[in-house]
Amino acid sequence: MTCETGNLGDLGVARVGYGAMKLTGWPRGDRPDRDTALAVLRRAVELGVNHIDTSNYYARDGVSANELIRSALHPYADDLVLVTKVGALVEGPDIMLPPEQHTGLSPDGLRRGIEANLTSLGIDRVDVVNLRMGDRGHGDASIAEPLETLMKLREEGLIRHIGVSNIGLPEFELARSIAPIVCVQNQYNVARRDDDPLIDACTAAGVAYVPFFPIGGGFQPVTAEHLTTVAERHGATVAQVALAWLLARSPNILLIPGTGSLAHLEENIAAGDLTLTPEDLALIG
Ligand SMILES: NC(=O)c1ccc[n+]([C@@H]2O[C@H](COP(=O)([O-])OP(=O)(O)OC[C@H]3O[C@@H](n4cnc5c(N)ncnc54)[C@H](OP(=O)(O)O)[C@@H]3O)[C@@H](O)[C@H]2O)c1
Repeated sequence: MTCETGNLGDLGVARVGYGAMKLTGWPRGDRPDRDTALAVLRRAVELGVNHIDTSNYYARDGVSANELIRSALHPYADDLVLVTKVGALVEGPDIMLPPEQHTGLSPDGLRRGIEANLTSLGIDRVDVVNLRMGDRGHGDASIAEPLETLMKLREEGLIRHIGVSNIGLPEFELARSIAPIVCVQNQYNVARRDDDPLIDACTAAGVAYVPFFPIGGGFQPVTAEHLTTVAERHGATVAQVALAWLLARSPNILLIPGTGSLAHLEENIAAGDLTLTPEDLALIG
């Protein structure tokens, strides 16, 4: 496991973390059985992961990421950083509702979202909460009012740090004028690099950038000819090269690859020890 660390505000974390969404099969798709899910979470922490990404709404058919995290890991180690998110959705099944019934971005909805995360995770204060914007019929919603609500909840002691998710560069700048933003969580990987300018802005501002779908999200594998070549050079897998490429992309990138497989978990964490050479990086382009 890499001993490299990054920061979420004043919280130091290993650069390779873990994303819990895939443990639930939310919003659709396969998921591991409960025993495997608990084993994956415990093994992640054993291997040095101390940054787990989750949400109260990662829940389907009674299988909830926060409940699994609590069952596997509570009482939590002092250095474990749980990062959750709130947005248009509060509960998993909300995704089935028409957009006008997604009330999670209102002041009351944000409070319900934070309180639901506190209860399901069994904590008094959220380490980091990402404000998730940008879709589900709320694409034009301003980030300002929800951030002001989160700042009030922070003043009440329910939140330690605030991040933003699914936002562009203008919203990043606006968000930073309203709240001390510690991280951005957007879609980015070696095959999808639209966020390059935002990553550069985060680097300059000392804000962590946490890409979701770092290995393609299981939908669109980040396979490419050059990734395979580089993987063969290192005796690594394509997924490991995709993760190592992200670590090389910027020192403020933190990873949260998701998996319901113990073998993939170990592979992903080992990617933290894979250093790509300048030749590798030039080949990948
Ligand atoms: N802010 C947002 O809007 C947002 C959106 C989506 C996700 N997220 C967060 O980001 C985290 C990461 O995203 P993600 O989990 O959806 O996508 P991902 O990490 O890019 O990919 C996960 C998929 O890749 C497979 N996989 C994992 N490791 C592998 C390996 N070593 N080799 C081959 N396949 C592998 C997994 O299947 P197996 O289970 O079979 O390994 C799973 O299907 C999520 O868990 C969630 O916490 C945030």
